[in-house]
Amino acid sequence: MSIDISQEQIRVDVNAGSHPSTIWIGDGAADRLPVLLDAHGVGARRFVVSSPVIWRLHGDQVRRALGSVEPILIADGERYKNLQSVSRIYEALIRAGADRGSAIVAVGGGVIGDTAGFAAATFLRGITLVQVPTTLLAQVDSSIGGKVGVNHALGKNLIGAFHQPAVVVIDPLLLRTLPRREFRSGLYEVIKYGMIASRDLFDRIAGNTKAIFARDPAALVPAIVESCRIKADVVSQDERESGLRRILNYGHTVGHALEAATKYTRFRHGEAIAYGMLAAADLAVSRGALADRGRQALVQLITKLGPLPPLADLSIAEVLEAVRRDKKVINGRLHFVIAVAIGATAEINDVTETELRDVLQHLGLKG
Ligand SMILES: NC(=O)c1ccc[n+]([C@@H]2O[C@H](COP(=O)([O-])OP(=O)(O)OC[C@H]3O[C@@H](n4cnc5c(N)ncnc54)[C@H](O)[C@@H]3O)[C@@H](O)[C@H]2O)c1
Ligand SMILES: [Zn+2]
Repeated sequence: MSIDISQEQIRVDVNAGSHPSTIWIGDGAADRLPVLLDAHGVGARRFVVSSPVIWRLHGDQVRRALGSVEPILIADGERYKNLQSVSRIYEALIRAGADRGSAIVAVGGGVIGDTAGFAAATFLRGITLVQVPTTLLAQVDSSIGGKVGVNHALGKNLIGAFHQPAVVVIDPLLLRTLPRREFRSGLYEVIKYGMIASRDLFDRIAGNTKAIFARDPAALVPAIVESCRIKADVVSQDERESGLRRILNYGHTVGHALEAATKYTRFRHGEAIAYGMLAAADLAVSRGALADRGRQALVQLITKLGPLPPLADLSIAEVLEAVRRDKKVINGRLHFVIAVAIGATAEINDVTETELRDVLQHLGLKG
């Protein structure tokens, strides 16, 4: 690379088999979009996909960086993450004469990234994708790893593909406008990375909660970088989730079931995962795989971050039903990731229904 772009940005590489992907992280990274995209050979015809909300807040900045772009705007609620939105992106691309050398630049949270990413994976059998994530959840999780897709009326994330973004540009300054609850939702995924791979990251969030909530770069940027490194490392070893990548599902067995049982309206994704991690920790302790002080540290940290939506009105039976329907049941066996210490995991696939029932009861669900 001839241009030195490493001055202010931190680089993390995803060496996925199908396509390499490069992540750039740093305050102000969004202003450097043209330099970063040029450096990675992203074609000159760049179609920005975003949402009206995000464009109102950050459109001027992206426009200043990329030149006079006319964005393709789609609504970014979870219920718009569907094939109709994908179709609207195709239509805009076709009308504008996009070709195989064109690129989609997704500017938004996980909903925009997944939807625009799926359009990029499928339009003309795949065009270049750039992710510019604007939520903390998207910056540490959904924009990395190449999973793209949309929901079907009969289920979430049922339609999708693996399509690695050529470049992911992470600018933590974009998070200044993010509502606190959305920010917190992303933070639970950061805690997840701590639980599965880094005691240090876990301790740093616990020790700097205030500074992180204040979005102080000195505290926030290292937490984002560390999270991205962990995800990039796992994806590099197992792009298609045949093994190791499953550890990223820590907290997701029960988390996904809680989301599904409440029709994706009560919990932000991370909030459901917070409960899911508590459930996984409880299960691990009851099996003697995790010391109770590890579980207590997790409870303390999650409690410190703020309140979670209530779940006492949910019945164990309906959540169990949702667990059964989830993709984590493979050949009739439920795969469950547990932490055996803060920073280390194991996968188990012999969790009985009685164990799961007990865990849900401890979590506060009604029998
Ligand atoms: N592909 C993956 O690997 C992966 C991983 C995890 C989650 N996901 C998906 O991600 C989605 C959730 O993503 P999300 O949590 O980012 O939610 P989201 O995309 O719905 O965004 C949350 C809200 O924040 C607003 N917003 C976004 N950026 C903002 C900003 N900078 N300032 C102010 N408001 C802003 C949005 O308008 C939206 O209302 C789910 O659909 C989930 O399935 C995908
Ligand atoms: Zn998640």
